[in-house]
Amino acid sequence: MCGIVGYTGKDQAAPILLDGLQKLEYRGYDSAGLAVRDGKALAEVVKATGKLYHLADKTDQGRALKGNCGIGHTRWATHGDPSTVNAHPHVSGNCTGSGSGKVESDVAGVHNGIIENFAELKEKLLRHGYAFYSDTDTEVVVKLVDYYYKKYKIGPVDAITRTMVRVRGSYALALMFKDYPDEIFAARKDSPLIIGTAEDASFLASDVPAILKYTRSVYYIDNLQVARVSPGQVKFYDLNGDEVTLNQTEITWDAAAAEKGGFEHFMLKEIHEQPAAVRDTLNSLVKNGKIDLAETGLTDDMIRSLTQIDIVACGSAWHVGMAAQYVIEELAQLPVRVELASEFRYRNLPLSESTLVIVISQSGETADSLAALRVARERGAKTLAVVNVIGSTIAREADHVLYTLAGPEIAVATTKAYSAQLIAMDLLAVQMAFVRGTVSADAYAHDLEELSLIPEKIRRILEDKERLQWFASKIANAHDIFFIGRGLDYAISLEGSLKMKEISYIHSEAYAAGELKHGTISLIENNTLVIGVLTQSRLYEKTVSNMMECKSRGAYLMGLTTNGNFSVEDSVNFTVYIPKTDEHFVASLAVVPLQLLGYYTSVSRGLDVDKPRNLAKSVTVE
Ligand code: G6P
Repeated sequence: MCGIVGYTGKDQAAPILLDGLQKLEYRGYDSAGLAVRDGKALAEVVKATGKLYHLADKTDQGRALKGNCGIGHTRWATHGDPSTVNAHPHVSGNCTGSGSGKVESDVAGVHNGIIENFAELKEKLLRHGYAFYSDTDTEVVVKLVDYYYKKYKIGPVDAITRTMVRVRGSYALALMFKDYPDEIFAARKDSPLIIGTAEDASFLASDVPAILKYTRSVYYIDNLQVARVSPGQVKFYDLNGDEVTLNQTEITWDAAAAEKGGFEHFMLKEIHEQPAAVRDTLNSLVKNGKIDLAETGLTDDMIRSLTQIDIVACGSAWHVGMAAQYVIEELAQLPVRVELASEFRYRNLPLSESTLVIVISQSGETADSLAALRVARERGAKTLAVVNVIGSTIAREADHVLYTLAGPEIAVATTKAYSAQLIAMDLLAVQMAFVRGTVSADAYAHDLEELSLIPEKIRRILEDKERLQWFASKIANAHDIFFIGRGLDYAISLEGSLKMKEISYIHSEAYAAGELKHGTISLIENNTLVIGVLTQSRLYEKTVSNMMECKSRGAYLMGLTTNGNFSVEDSVNFTVYIPKTDEHFVASLAVVPLQLLGYYTSVSRGLDVDKPRNLAKSVTVE
């Protein structure tokens, strides 16, 4: 989704803004723009559609734009097509043509989010003589700020708070006012925004990687707050315009973690960071040979009082929930529902205080997951967030937080955050089982031992990539790929299929193997690739039978199974083996070859692996 950056300080702003935008490219975008001011001079706006280098070319890598204070934006189109005129920044005055050039305006701004009542606000502003040059909701907000600013002759902070009271929806806004050189004003509701300060400079960004090179001291501006940012200083205000104090956080992420470090793509680098991501997450939850949930605030009494678990998430995080469902149900004997956050938020599910709603989210900012969390809290359930980004909105609003330690994830297709979430959920399942007395002390020790070996087993899988690389080049022209499995193998199939389709653009679906005969098998033709996930001994033969039914209709088969299951080779065309582990925890291993298969297929097809079309890393609008 859209990315915002801002800079005010002693250095030339535009190159810093471009550098920040480049670090936010992973969020997904279709156009970009900058507004820079030079002292008292008006803002100069430059915009370009397509990749960021077009904007960099237009501005001589930013050098052509003079000025030490500016805002920048990558836009993921919601209202209005991805054209130059719709690209941000937007201005309060009129704009001709592409909207680039010197602008005679009092306010210029960038926005991430959606203003739901923009049509009604636009009508109001039209009645007051404003004219609009774009189709965006952002232009409406910028003009509304300008309207209050002039009508009441109030300062920027009050003009912004009045605007916030009128708009519905979500926003992170960064605004510059002609009369306030060197200052940027920001506001936020339900869309991420951080503010970093250094000695003589301040930075704004949608996410940490954009400013990590310059500072590690950041503020997480709260919902419905306004910030007044000047070089090296920031003040915060609530909706009444009263000043409030926020604590500064020190980012501990290593700046190198947000660079490719010799790998061709972020996705490949992040696939290789999985042993560390899993180990770090595991070590943060296991102390002296026991699982310790003290930092989450979940007590044994709370765990014993639970009668129901609801896991709510989007995308791959939802797939983690699907896998965890089987593990929690089997080990802790608790009923588990797994819900898509976008569905959960609009359902009237009865919840009670004996329900624990677990929201899984890498970014901690996904709009639907955040809304689902709020619904769960309103209905009286206990809430636990499993989140990777410290200080994110979901982490701040949940009753309890369990942080995964995957570090910054840049590739749109998640890999290491998924794996960190999975191990966190497995540890939670084992601890719930132990506390509830559904596993013995011996079984508990065995489970912990098995989980502690997962990082090393992932590392072993990563040592043997060549066969998958070869197979990926062979299937790169496939039209359809079906992933099938039962039980936990179905959950693994869901993630394998998503990894494949989102970065290779090959149509792919995951099916519970037993469902094939209810429709999907009619899609099997000569050479259709069917990938069977076969890690659960109880269900293994049944899935193999389903694969044979596909083979009889012409399918080409790949089997993914554990070492030792060599009989698979007699039935399928290509076999991938993973090391043995306790079957409850096998998803952590089985997913890795499927990630690699998706990755190498995308590379074979010459696609933009890290930034697949139309997708965004962090989906901050509904
Ligand atoms: C996007 C990302 C996925 C992610 C999903 C949920 O679709 O591309 O990788 O699984 O959002 O994001 P979250 O940050 O809530 O885990």
